[in-house]
Amino acid sequence: MSGSHLSRRDFMKAATGAVGGVITAALGIPVIGFLIAPALREDKAGAPIAVGKLEDIPVGKFHPFSFTITKVNGWERTASNYGGFILRNSEAPDDILILSSRCTHLSCTVNWNESANAFLCPCHDAKFGPEGQVLDGPPPEPLGHFEYSVDDQGVLTIVPVELKSEA
Ligand code: FES
Repeated sequence: MSGSHLSRRDFMKAATGAVGGVITAALGIPVIGFLIAPALREDKAGAPIAVGKLEDIPVGKFHPFSFTITKVNGWERTASNYGGFILRNSEAPDDILILSSRCTHLSCTVNWNESANAFLCPCHDAKFGPEGQVLDGPPPEPLGHFEYSVDDQGVLTIVPVELKSEA
């Protein structure tokens, strides 16, 4: 017999190792994919958000809206609520003001007060004018403005640009 023949024992060792490797790869690759997938997922913060049809939003008065953004950071998902007020100045689809309801002081939610003709913040008595300008109180900046677009079906979509810096 020449030395190039495998013994039965060596053959069994090699065959067992090969089968074990195939089983490990078959089980291990999906598990690794499952574990690293959250880290590879794209964060959708900053994507446009449809907030309603123009025909459902009255002209001449502030119309509240809200939305939730879920941020994904690896395996952690954080849902945050945001909101604002839409003011249609006329029937024209490009004559709209959209303000954030988040106070620029410490992020409390402001409310429109018709008799005061202002947005009032309940936390530290701040007052914002109808265009979001600071009238009174500690806020360092006006209320945020949302950019928007209206599609052919009259759906109003906002771009939450003010949230991008928080992402
Ligand atoms: S959070 Fe609005 S005034 Fe402080």
